[in-house]
Amino acid sequence: AASKMWGGRFAGGPAAIMRRINASIDFDRRLYAQDIRGSQAHCQMLVAQKMIGADDAAAILGGLDTVLAEIEAGTFPFRAELEDIHMNVEARLAELIGEPAGRLHTARSRNDQVATDFRLWVRDAIDGMEAGLKELVEALLDRAEEHAATVMPGFTHLQAAQPVTFGHHLMAYVEMIGRDRSRLADARKRLNESPLGSAALAGTSFPIDREATARALGFERPMRNSLDGVSDRDFALEFLSAASICAVHLSRLAEELVIWTSAQFRFVSLSDAFTTGSSIMPQKRNPDAAELIRAKTGRVIGDLASLLIVMKGLPLAYSKDMQDDKEPVFEAADTMELAISAMTGMIRDLTANEAVMAAAAGAGFTTATDIADWCVRALGMPFRRAHHVAGSLVKLAEDKGVGLEDLSLDEMRAIEPGITAEAQAVLTVASSVASRTSQGGTAPVRVRAAIAEARTRLAEE
Ligand code: ARG
Repeated sequence: AASKMWGGRFAGGPAAIMRRINASIDFDRRLYAQDIRGSQAHCQMLVAQKMIGADDAAAILGGLDTVLAEIEAGTFPFRAELEDIHMNVEARLAELIGEPAGRLHTARSRNDQVATDFRLWVRDAIDGMEAGLKELVEALLDRAEEHAATVMPGFTHLQAAQPVTFGHHLMAYVEMIGRDRSRLADARKRLNESPLGSAALAGTSFPIDREATARALGFERPMRNSLDGVSDRDFALEFLSAASICAVHLSRLAEELVIWTSAQFRFVSLSDAFTTGSSIMPQKRNPDAAELIRAKTGRVIGDLASLLIVMKGLPLAYSKDMQDDKEPVFEAADTMELAISAMTGMIRDLTANEAVMAAAAGAGFTTATDIADWCVRALGMPFRRAHHVAGSLVKLAEDKGVGLEDLSLDEMRAIEPGITAEAQAVLTVASSVASRTSQGGTAPVRVRAAIAEARTRLAEE
């Protein structure tokens, strides 16, 4: 039989395969709370504008409460032949309250309904992700504080470059996550306008009050153009791009955890709670959560690509293609929730092997820049010449199979007669990091100040 919801001009019903490709209820049921909230706001506006009677409105609002309770109790009879969440809710409402249910859809279309529901859902997803990221930042700050003066090698090209502190390294991620959070907040601002009242695409002839429904749903204002209201999904794309960038940040940190926990590095240890064993090799402690965060980043990026591609060829206004906007967003939100929580857990529990890190910090002539800088400061040498002197010292140490700090004063003076005992003092890892006091630098005093500032910013939110 033809659909009760739109079957007026149809003699026959859809083919089984048509029903299957058309139905979205298996995934868009996740919009139920937003759908019911939107319908309640719409109904309250209809009665306030005298478009429906008070008795009908009371029946509709009561019925929607029952529908919500049924869905939350798991007793709601979801039906695939009713296509989507909107028609499932409305059909059940009709079963519960009869004829007044048919008045709810006055001055509304599923097009503005779904755009409204989805904006509300993405807004909640943004809030959830923001809250999760805040906890991650707190965990990073705690570890950074603990290790504000713990030295480790800083890398470029994954080659030991200059000593840094572990706290400084972790604070780099605090900055990245901070920008991720601000991208989400920014997307939320642009998202927070109400499409409700756009109706199918052209607006409506009924005397609706879009300001009232916008306010009731926590939107800043109604969207200005009805065609735009039902046909853009840029809010979902912004969420997905902010999520993708954040996922890339998490993935890089995850990659570092994989490297740092390897037997070759042994910089950090993860807790038992965030490690798995091997069924054959008893010694193994695998950083599976980090690896999975790295892997799942691909899905989030794929979700962004997939929705961009859905949208790119669509003429205004609504096309059914847009029903396919939801699964990428749901998948990205779920994936981010997992990844952020797992990363927070790993960081909270992480311990640093300070002795190993300190030994590595000095290996590979990482203080060569410090001796060059000393020649500039103390001897007034042009940096390019100082670089050459330091290079010759590295060559000598390398040939002898020792570190820079193991060269005797005489050996150093044979290369540059101006070198004094004071120069030798800059060759330790501790003095190297302590000297990097420039703004944003790795000196422990700077790192501690950066942590304090970050904590203040967080507290002021
Ligand atoms: N399930 C649909 C979606 O998600 C609802 C909108 C249907 N509108 C329509 N004109 N068929 O996009």
